[in-house]
Amino acid sequence: MEFINLFTPIFLCFLCFQFNVSFSDLAADREALIRFSSVVQGNTIRWNSSDPSPCSWTGVLCDNATNRVTGLRLPGARLAGEIPPNSIGNLTKLRRLSLRGNLLRGEILLDLENCSELRFIYLQNNRLSGEIPATFFRLSNLIRVDISSNNFSGEISASFNNLTRLTHLYLENNQFTGPIPDLSSEFSQFNVSMNNLNGRIPRRFANLSVNSFTGNQQLCGAPLSSCPNESESNKLSGGAIAGIVVGSALGSILIIASIFFLCRNCHKSRTSRQAVQDAASSIPPSPEKPPAYDFRSPDHILPTDHSGSDGGYSARPDNNDELTFFGEGGFLLDDLLRASAEMLGKGTVGTTYKAYLDNGGQVIVKRLKNVCVSKMEFTKKIVYLGKLYHENLLPIKGYYYGKEEKLLVFDFIPIGSLSSVLHGEERSQLTWEIRSRIALQIASAIEHLHSHNLCHGNIKSNNILLANGFQASVSESGLIQLVTSSTPNLSGYRAPEVIDTRIASREADVYGFGILLLELVTGKDPTVLMNEEGIDLPRWVQGVDESRWSSEVFDLNLLTNPNDEENIVRFLHVGIRCASQVPKRRSSMMEVVQRIKKICKD
Ligand SMILES: *[C@@H]1O[C@H](CO)[C@@H](O)[C@H](O)[C@H]1NC(C)=O
Ligand SMILES: *[C@@H]1O[C@H](CO)[C@@H](O)[C@H](O)[C@H]1NC(C)=O
Ligand SMILES: *[C@@H]1O[C@H](CO)[C@@H](O)[C@H](O)[C@H]1NC(C)=O
Ligand SMILES: *[C@@H]1O[C@H](CO)[C@@H](O)[C@H](O)[C@H]1NC(C)=O
Ligand SMILES: *[C@@H]1O[C@H](CO)[C@@H](O)[C@H](O)[C@H]1NC(C)=O
Ligand SMILES: *[C@@H]1O[C@H](CO)[C@@H](O)[C@H](O)[C@H]1NC(C)=O
Ligand SMILES: *[C@@H]1O[C@H](CO)[C@@H](O)[C@H](O)[C@H]1NC(C)=O
Ligand SMILES: *[C@@H]1O[C@H](CO)[C@@H](O)[C@H](O)[C@H]1NC(C)=O
Repeated sequence: MEFINLFTPIFLCFLCFQFNVSFSDLAADREALIRFSSVVQGNTIRWNSSDPSPCSWTGVLCDNATNRVTGLRLPGARLAGEIPPNSIGNLTKLRRLSLRGNLLRGEILLDLENCSELRFIYLQNNRLSGEIPATFFRLSNLIRVDISSNNFSGEISASFNNLTRLTHLYLENNQFTGPIPDLSSEFSQFNVSMNNLNGRIPRRFANLSVNSFTGNQQLCGAPLSSCPNESESNKLSGGAIAGIVVGSALGSILIIASIFFLCRNCHKSRTSRQAVQDAASSIPPSPEKPPAYDFRSPDHILPTDHSGSDGGYSARPDNNDELTFFGEGGFLLDDLLRASAEMLGKGTVGTTYKAYLDNGGQVIVKRLKNVCVSKMEFTKKIVYLGKLYHENLLPIKGYYYGKEEKLLVFDFIPIGSLSSVLHGEERSQLTWEIRSRIALQIASAIEHLHSHNLCHGNIKSNNILLANGFQASVSESGLIQLVTSSTPNLSGYRAPEVIDTRIASREADVYGFGILLLELVTGKDPTVLMNEEGIDLPRWVQGVDESRWSSEVFDLNLLTNPNDEENIVRFLHVGIRCASQVPKRRSSMMEVVQRIKKICKD
């Protein structure tokens, strides 16, 4: 009894001390978050500052055992402004930080010095700047660091070697200078492209992809072109070195452009057609008069002049070696090869360029890679696709099937892809009215394909192009079935049952469309969600109670008119149904069109 009386107050006090400590730590985390949200604008305005605990706030993760904030994840939340001091850096138990795809500024790496538990840092696509400070290399638990596409500067320090757990390091698209240090970590991803680095690439990086280093004008050594050794480089003129550097940069970035370059050079002495053959297959040329072509009619695309060293039809392989057009506005392959081109993006089926023709026209050219069908099969499919008309399907304007190159030509669509608008700075222009109209247009286009016994095979927001007035055009219809694809099953749009993308099905199209609907409503990029958080968009939406959808799931830009809320929820239900795991449970595209029409009318 005495014993208990004596010790109880101490025991109680110990308890209350413990309680105070954990409470005040969480309170300090909360203070830090409030300091953060008071300066940066964006989704943090939804944080309810009257909550005593920050753990229920969007994007905030707590460990309820230690009662501390361990994660801050606000990717693409339109946060803008300079990260204030004593905010994120005060979350000393933080393990995962994702502020990817915002408009944040500041020197955040300096602030993180006391966040020694950090494992994952995703800060790509912001406007962050500053050097990587020495204190950063004390964060010895780091596993993945992505600070690409910012304005970080300074040298890449050899102290990265102190981060022994690091496996993924993305530094591309910044202003880093100096040489690449000899880093011994076992990187599974390493990217320093598009900086101002110089010097020799350390030997242990020699077997990494060229793509990890491109866009650094003064970097050399494997996997890039070899470094000029001392004596040689003294003899080479500055111009020659510049030539080599420019040559290799063109070679890897604008391949089409370098083919143009080749063709221009040989144009004077050779015919255009052979120049193309040369560029493609390096067969030595022989002089010949340029043949006349008729582009309007695919039946007459062979040269009318058969005199010449290649001996006319019979000796000519089945190569028509020209572009075939479906309608008006055709041009010669040579015109295309002479045009200047700008790469728009790389996708599953190949690389897309915008070409500026000499006559002032602009077209989109898709350079297909890994085409796995014969010329006959290719032509049959493209001709079938080319004849199909629907106002929301991007028509194929022309095609070319050469030995080396397989090209498709499309009209240029001014605004860009739905993905770039929806996940870009102009997303607020996409009101609910526009989004629902886009959804209906896409649905009708896919239904049109299905009703003609075709499947799209690769529905995603990247493949939806927007013209003026946000008129949607579905592109890449049926193309994925022509190529062998090596992309891993992580696209975020691919139906769970699809193993081989060449075997397209209507059900898989409906799944992809369902994801697209959810993307339109949430503004979330399903591929990023999949890669970064390992969860697909339907599960993410369904993980939130329906009563909280409007505050937690809807894209902020859709909250302007409360009357829309009910319809937006109905939309989400259509999307979830389309994206059922089991193909049989998915609606047909015809049903989807009917439902969306009804929702748009109500
Ligand atoms: C904010 O939190 C307080 C206390 O938890 C609650 O009473 C209030 O309704 C919340 N406000 C909003 C807008 O959710
Ligand atoms: C944390 O809280 C969740 C839900 O309240 C609970 O399921 C989980 O078991 C808790 N974890 C710990 C470590 O207490
Ligand atoms: C945040 O960190 C700074 C520097 O360590 C410290 O002075 C300050 O008290 C911290 N703020 C809070 C609210 O804990
Ligand atoms: C880290 O913690 C130390 C000691 O508490 C403090 O002096 C320093 O200001 C903190 N750094 C930052 C960036 O908050
Ligand atoms: C990295 O580790 C080395 C050797 O352990 C040490 O000398 C150096 O100070 C560390 N660098 C940083 C920035 O902590
Ligand atoms: C990037 O940082 C440099 C200094 O390192 C600065 O001069 C430049 O204005 C910054 N650019 C942007 C877009 O913030
Ligand atoms: C590079 O080579 C090392 C050993 O030489 C090997 O362990 C590693 O797997 C290779 N990496 C790639 C991407 O081939
Ligand atoms: C590295 O980044 C560049 C620029 O964003 C990108 O084009 C390239 O594909 C990346 N390389 C790798 C190996 O992922």
